[in-house]
Amino acid sequence: MEHNAYIPRLAKIIQIKEEVSGARPIKTFRTQFLNKNDFAFHCGQCTMLSVFGKGESMISISSPPLIKDYLQFSILKMGRVTSALHEMEVGDKIGIRGPYGNGFPIEDWKGKNLIFIGGGIGLAPIWSVLQTALGKKQEYGELKLIYGARTSKDLVFKEELKELKKKMIVHLSIDVEEPEWEEFIGFVPQNVTDKKPSPKNAITITCGPPIMIKFVIQALKDLEFEDAQIYTTVENKMKCGIGKCGRCNIGMHYVCKDGPVYSWAELKKLPQEY
Ligand SMILES: Cc1cc2nc3c(=O)[nH]c(=O)nc-3n(C[C@H](O)[C@H](O)[C@H](O)COP(=O)(O)OP(=O)(O)OC[C@H]3O[C@@H](n4cnc5c(N)ncnc54)[C@H](O)[C@@H]3O)c2cc1C
Ligand code: FES
Repeated sequence: MEHNAYIPRLAKIIQIKEEVSGARPIKTFRTQFLNKNDFAFHCGQCTMLSVFGKGESMISISSPPLIKDYLQFSILKMGRVTSALHEMEVGDKIGIRGPYGNGFPIEDWKGKNLIFIGGGIGLAPIWSVLQTALGKKQEYGELKLIYGARTSKDLVFKEELKELKKKMIVHLSIDVEEPEWEEFIGFVPQNVTDKKPSPKNAITITCGPPIMIKFVIQALKDLEFEDAQIYTTVENKMKCGIGKCGRCNIGMHYVCKDGPVYSWAELKKLPQEY
């Protein structure tokens, strides 16, 4: 029998990693389903995570579909639900509804150079597609990551980024100078302009705060990327996740069903409600 899309599947937290501490903390959670794992997803898709008695939040799956043992989520503490998640411990149970949304059309990108551009927690939705491309590296061209955060402490996946540098090109940045920092200092869009990625046979995938996305797109346009070469994800407020409540719409589009992944060619045709 098909799983009812409204009913969360029960899952257990098997690992918690503190990525960022301080005023805007981020934790990465690994979860395993309690029952049979028939959960299949595409990179870029999201789930509704429920903390019982507190509510639900839409969160991107940050692990790649290639990994079957666990689902990973990296979560910035914002309000009621995400604060409750940050209080949880290994062994605690949560609900997982989904997967929702369209995901990245990574199959269409075979043979192309992929440039991932992230800011802060925006690396989480990108991580799934980046790891998928890395796992099938021979099928793609050059892989490059341009990623930044406010300070070096605010970068997520710090250990993983060190390992990633052995496998692909990684350009990091922080917003303001720090004594030990040897990479770019400035905002992510400035690092894009500085590194001048070539639009030739390339696709860019960008995720981060809306203001960063806006200026990254501007920087890419200045480098002569076409609109159809630029992909991003939209984080509208969501409730049902399945196209019923109308909370997430941009014009006639329901982001939870038609998005959250859009090319800039698609997004710029929609009303500016995101
Ligand atoms: C498609 C999609 C994917 C997402 N992926 C991730 C992810 O991988 N990791 C992650 O940490 N967060 C992600 N988010 C954002 C996450 O859903 C919100 O931060 C979360 O729902 C806030 O819930 P809360 O109950 O903790 O906060 P609330 O009490 O509901 O709100 C607290 C604060 O958070 C702000 N907020 C609420 N919803 C959102 C939202 N959708 N986007 C931005 N700010 C919001 C509110 O304006 C308010 O200031 C995603 C959102 C969407 C729509
Ligand atoms: S979240 Fe309800 S319609 Fe999209």
